[in-house]
Amino acid sequence: MAEHLRLGVNIDHVATVRNARGGDYPDPLRAARVAEEAGADGITAHLREDRRHISDRDIEGLMELLSVPLNFEMAATEEMQAIALRHRPHAVCIVPEKREERTTEGGLEVAQDENRLAHFIAPLRDAGCRVSIFIAADRRQIEAANRIGAQVIELHTGAYCDAHAEGRFAERDAELERLREMSAFAHSLGLEVHAGHGLTYDTVAPVAAFPEVRELNIGHFLIGEAIFRGLKPAIAEMRRIMNEARA
Ligand code: PXP
Repeated sequence: MAEHLRLGVNIDHVATVRNARGGDYPDPLRAARVAEEAGADGITAHLREDRRHISDRDIEGLMELLSVPLNFEMAATEEMQAIALRHRPHAVCIVPEKREERTTEGGLEVAQDENRLAHFIAPLRDAGCRVSIFIAADRRQIEAANRIGAQVIELHTGAYCDAHAEGRFAERDAELERLREMSAFAHSLGLEVHAGHGLTYDTVAPVAAFPEVRELNIGHFLIGEAIFRGLKPAIAEMRRIMNEARA
């Protein structure tokens, strides 16, 4: 039987709703607590350079409050590195970031930036953080992530999920096949494999079934679904589908 598949719940968009009005409500920390109660194995939060959702105070609060690990998503900048080194979260996930994008649109270009990234992640590893690199399901990027010393890769499932949502089923199946092959390839190199971006109840099962995948990070859909069924039931249903796919 495959090992336990962890669910990391991304709470960024609780902060998006809060920031729409500028006050303290709804509180992402409260959402994190509910997510833990619902069976989340970790909490993911992305401190963007423009602070459009999660704030520095949220990260401080999460570090104090959580009893499950925090996966701190950040761009590879000096400012973010200093913040990560101050807090020493369980995991740091390096993501590409563009100011004009609505969400993290693609994976990190590791292969063309190997030297800089190797130097960038070394102190994070030395501080005890598990370093994860968010990349496309691409052999070149996986090999580069391995060479720079990352312990974990997170495969970008956005192209798979978009193809499903837009009814491009042949492309969806090809993306899924690519994710399957690259999960196995990364695992064979000794990397821990995570996946995420855009996953929903409709798309999660085939990815959850890959035995090499150890963690899924899911946010936007769960926060959206919480409007209709409440956060705890929304997460519990995702957990149920993941467990079923894994069994
Ligand atoms: N994993 C990473 C690295 C991400 O950047 C994001 C989005 O912030 C997610 C997972 C979660 O994606 P979604 O919110 O679409 O579920």
